[in-house]
Amino acid sequence: MPTISQTDKGHTEEAITVEQIKKETIKRRLRAARSLAARMQITSDGSRAFIRFSRSQSLEHWILLVSFGTLAVTGLLQSFSAFFPIGWIIQILGNVETVRTIHRLAAIVLAVLSFYHGWRILETWFVKQERGGMWPRIRDFRDLVQMVMFNAGLAKKRPEFDRFTIEEKLEYWALLWGTPVMGLTGLVLWVPAVVTSVLPGQIYPIAQAIHRWEAILASLAILTWHMYHGCLKDRNRSVFTGIMSEEEMQHAHPLEYRRIVAAHEYLQKVTTEEGPPRSEVALKKDHQEAAQGLGQTD
Ligand code: HEM
Repeated sequence: MPTISQTDKGHTEEAITVEQIKKETIKRRLRAARSLAARMQITSDGSRAFIRFSRSQSLEHWILLVSFGTLAVTGLLQSFSAFFPIGWIIQILGNVETVRTIHRLAAIVLAVLSFYHGWRILETWFVKQERGGMWPRIRDFRDLVQMVMFNAGLAKKRPEFDRFTIEEKLEYWALLWGTPVMGLTGLVLWVPAVVTSVLPGQIYPIAQAIHRWEAILASLAILTWHMYHGCLKDRNRSVFTGIMSEEEMQHAHPLEYRRIVAAHEYLQKVTTEEGPPRSEVALKKDHQEAAQGLGQTD
């Protein structure tokens, strides 16, 4: 009976480990390719459509739209209640107390939504082990400079964006720092007795000034920047429909578009070379995965 020597055994184990790593890498690459490729769908008229947001992401945006809109209106009504038409609007709603109650209810909704979104971010980082499309990158600075130059007519080409454009990223980051600022200063205005039992009394006028001016800044930013980029410039409705057309993807997110198409082609190549195509059930699962948040995958 031949026996395996110590060295042969070592080599065999090494070969098995290398083989396992290779298999794992292929599996991971396949999984990533499948979730990306599942974002491309062929519609009934034969054209290509791209899943951009899941239903839960659309719902998040709706809740943000309603809660932020309510906060902005009810907050600014309080700030400018001394002006004639504003006082008149407050009277239609009841009185200032009604406006304050609506403001506080909307604040609770926005706070819950913010915690949910924070949890989603942690899930992306630690469970999916991805950074997410909004993660800042060095190339964002390059993109920003090129976009400004393009808008000023000093550059011939728009920068090529991936999952999110630089305008979308700047807006998201502003929301990310602005919401905790509004939440914390709002809390000082809500329970001043509790806060001033721990902190000096000057905290109240400071919080009030920050809350008021940040409210004006945020409302103007939404009305100008967001409305222009989101609704007017490209008439991008994907956050409501969840879908983007091929032309829109090519124009707004060419890098992501090419990654999705490449993933599709890679899968087609792998399935024709290495076995039968995926079953209907498996394909349906890929689509469900993509619709449930893999929208962020990049
Ligand atoms: C996110 C959590 C928020 C909390 C907890 C909060 C809470 C408050 C509270 C307690 C007040 C004082 C009036 C009252 O007693 O009801 C207030 C005032 C106000 N809030 Fe908010 N708020 C929040 C978000 C926002 C947002 C997002 C905006 C606008 C975009 C906003 C705009 C305003 C304005 C303009 C005032 C009046 C400030 C003044 O002129 O005295 N708030 N808020």
